[in-house]
Amino acid sequence: MKNVCIFAHRGSKGTHPENTLSAFEEALRSGADGIELDVHLTKDGELAVIHDETIDRTTTLSGYVKDYTAEELKMADAGVKFSPSFKNEKIPLLKEVFQWASGTSLIINVELKNDKFPYAGLEEKVIELIRGYSYEKRVILSSFNHESISIAQKIAPEIESALLFEGLPVNFEEVLKTKQGAGFHPALAALTKEITAKAQTLGCKVRPYTANLESDIIYLLELGVEGLFTDFPARAIRLASKFQEGKN
Ligand code: G3P
Ligand code: CA
Repeated sequence: MKNVCIFAHRGSKGTHPENTLSAFEEALRSGADGIELDVHLTKDGELAVIHDETIDRTTTLSGYVKDYTAEELKMADAGVKFSPSFKNEKIPLLKEVFQWASGTSLIINVELKNDKFPYAGLEEKVIELIRGYSYEKRVILSSFNHESISIAQKIAPEIESALLFEGLPVNFEEVLKTKQGAGFHPALAALTKEITAKAQTLGCKVRPYTANLESDIIYLLELGVEGLFTDFPARAIRLASKFQEGKN
């Protein structure tokens, strides 16, 4: 038994093409507690699961997600650039991931990728889908766009939310206080024992990203974080279980 939640970052990104169903399936196989994924809005208002604003880096096509319809996005191969053995992997829609996840008990961290393009109505659309699947208690909504988290909290206070931080502002405690109940998702490099303790004192769950090296994962386990994001969930689970055994 372990008491830290291991989230497979963009699925099992280290071993499978990120943000694809095969990466999420691998996360499940690894025994991850949760998956993390990123959402953007398509030209026809669908929720596409992909990290970047453009499809250039991870797929065989190019251009902005917002300029493609959901159907057009399906023409892109989202697996072959990672490895030819993943050829024909598609960019999933959020509803497809939710449908797949219905056969699992995975926690789903949906990152609203609206820090570059505002994507009007993104929060409402994601929340509507969460409610449609009755996933209110198994989804965490996060974003680097803290205004978006305020909107999500207002529309759906029953859904857990979290603030993502790239660099940590000196007034991060003030920022956390303005978003009552939100989790604290800082970059691994920004996290110290003192910062962890301060956030936990405010009642925030601390879940840093992205810990891949064994030494980094062990460092976070020793800090006593509530969760962590990793591209290698199997590795993190093994270390977390061993860490917990050592404590018992
Ligand atoms: O949610 C944690 C992490 O995914 C945030 O950074 O760039 O991987 O989306 P990024
Ligand atoms: Ca993300």
